[in-house]
Amino acid sequence: MSSPILEAIFKRRSIREYTDKDVTTEHLHKIIEAGIWAPSGLNNQPWRFVTIKDQKTRNQLAAQTKYGHIINAAPALIAVYLDQTAMYNNTKDHQAAGACIENMLLASEALGLGAVWLGQILQKKEEVNTLLDLNNDLDLMAIVAIGHPAHHDQQSQRKPLRDFILKEL
Ligand SMILES: Cc1cc2nc3c(=O)[nH]c(=O)nc-3n(C[C@H](O)[C@H](O)[C@H](O)COP(=O)(O)O)c2cc1C
Repeated sequence: MSSPILEAIFKRRSIREYTDKDVTTEHLHKIIEAGIWAPSGLNNQPWRFVTIKDQKTRNQLAAQTKYGHIINAAPALIAVYLDQTAMYNNTKDHQAAGACIENMLLASEALGLGAVWLGQILQKKEEVNTLLDLNNDLDLMAIVAIGHPAHHDQQSQRKPLRDFILKEL
């Protein structure tokens, strides 16, 4: 396969274990930039981000989810939000957020970093907003945990293609 884009799509795995090496602000900004180049309905770009490297804040966020060990292990986090004052259509804006987050995962892969999309913490959206001192116009979509991969042993499976295609007319 010669396409770097297809290669990144197929090679990307959720990375949950990291080395202690710092993730630079430059890399975090590049990952966010990839996110904001995702498509959005009417090009309304409803996404907003908080970058977190501070250990105390990571500890506080870790306490909000059963995946806290990943948050504690990751040297950097990006909280991805929808700004509800910038939204125009609930379904389409949520679709845009998903596209944004996937771009961020692929950008992390392209930069030699490892990332995982954390959604379980959405059960504690309000607590996270309080911790990050954000108002409730901001609706948490995910926390992306990012670091330098500790290893590349991750395996993942997909059901066969035929399970998903309903019809080919
Ligand atoms: C909406 C969403 C929420 C997720 N939430 C979590 C999570 O809270 N904790 C976690 O470890 N992984 C989470 N993941 C990652 C999935 O477990 C992972 O993508 C899936 O198992 C497939 O593995 P792969 O990404 O390595 O292909 C989430 C993924 C998505 C898209």
